[in-house]
Amino acid sequence: MKVAVFSTKAYDRRSLEAANAGHGHEFFFLESRLALPTAPLAAGHGAVCAFINDELHARTLGILARGGTKLIALRSAGFNHVDLKAAHKLGLKVLRVPAYSPHAVAEHALALVMTLNRKTHRAYNRVREGNFSLDGLLGFDIAGKTAGIVGTGKIGIILGEILAGMGCRVLGYDPFPNKRFKKIGTYVDFPGLLRESHIISLHCPLTPESHHLINKKTLALMRPGAMLINTSRGALIDTQAVTHALKSGHLGYLGLDVYEQEADLFYENLSETIIQDDVFQRLLTFPNVLITSHQAFFTGDAMKNIAETTIGNITDFEKGRPSANEVTSRQIHHGA
Ligand code: NAI
Repeated sequence: MKVAVFSTKAYDRRSLEAANAGHGHEFFFLESRLALPTAPLAAGHGAVCAFINDELHARTLGILARGGTKLIALRSAGFNHVDLKAAHKLGLKVLRVPAYSPHAVAEHALALVMTLNRKTHRAYNRVREGNFSLDGLLGFDIAGKTAGIVGTGKIGIILGEILAGMGCRVLGYDPFPNKRFKKIGTYVDFPGLLRESHIISLHCPLTPESHHLINKKTLALMRPGAMLINTSRGALIDTQAVTHALKSGHLGYLGLDVYEQEADLFYENLSETIIQDDVFQRLLTFPNVLITSHQAFFTGDAMKNIAETTIGNITDFEKGRPSANEVTSRQIHHGA
């Protein structure tokens, strides 16, 4: 099939080309994000391959459909950026990569926890500059602390298992509890998890129900000094409310791999430009905040899985085979 691949970086190109061996799809790689002005570039391509910060709103989808696109192949598990109802109406099929490496994301969440706690990023710089002082590097033992996992799906369970292995008491909140989590943790209600946890990590999808799940009210329920980690989707957190909680000292640590307005920032080298997002810039001033640029998925293993599943999805569509990776408009309130 002819496939227009948006938001392409060199690493996407390499992994997709490797996975395409034997499938014979024809790629048109575009560095630009998919949005209203760039959508016409996909004209004549039966498939559009999109990533998390591409805009798949009704109007953009309309342009794609009029240009002959029939398939949206997402290189992601999350599909909160796709107007599924509009896609359905326009006859566009949406396929995704439901699981490529939940380990990659869970392990990155752990990296955020460990770096914030033991301040290895600061220690690294200090030692290189001949500063061997320990002032400001005080951490805490993870063993014996309570960790709260919000969303005990594929990623949340793995982080729960890792933290249980490190000696944590693990609590979980999920409207759909599962047996595997119960082996290592205990389900509680959301306010209970917030009240008891020293470390809270978000692993639920962004849905209308979970939008700003962490807000002024829910932050107030947290233990003073708690650590909040978000590797899921930026809009789970009300960033202004979190900034207030950091300023007051109520929130002890914040680790983010995702940010509500990340589409304007992440994946680009903006080091020579003036960043206009004051909310984001304020976050960067806190010594107890660590932000990574939506890289939790970024391991060689995960990239290989993403590319192979994406190419498999396109081939299934081309051959008219049904796919378990199809996203339907019914999944809006449940999906990853
Ligand atoms: P999953 O679908 O296996 O698990 C999500 C779980 O969240 C389910 O058990 C579901 O019942 C639960 N859930 C739904 N609504 C909830 C709510 N309001 N409160 C608490 N739990 C709720 O998804 P998976 O694979 O574990 O991924 C989780 C999220 O991680 C995805 O939605 C995606 O946004 C994010 N993600 C981030 C990546 C990154 O690179 N930072 C990469 C991959 C996924």
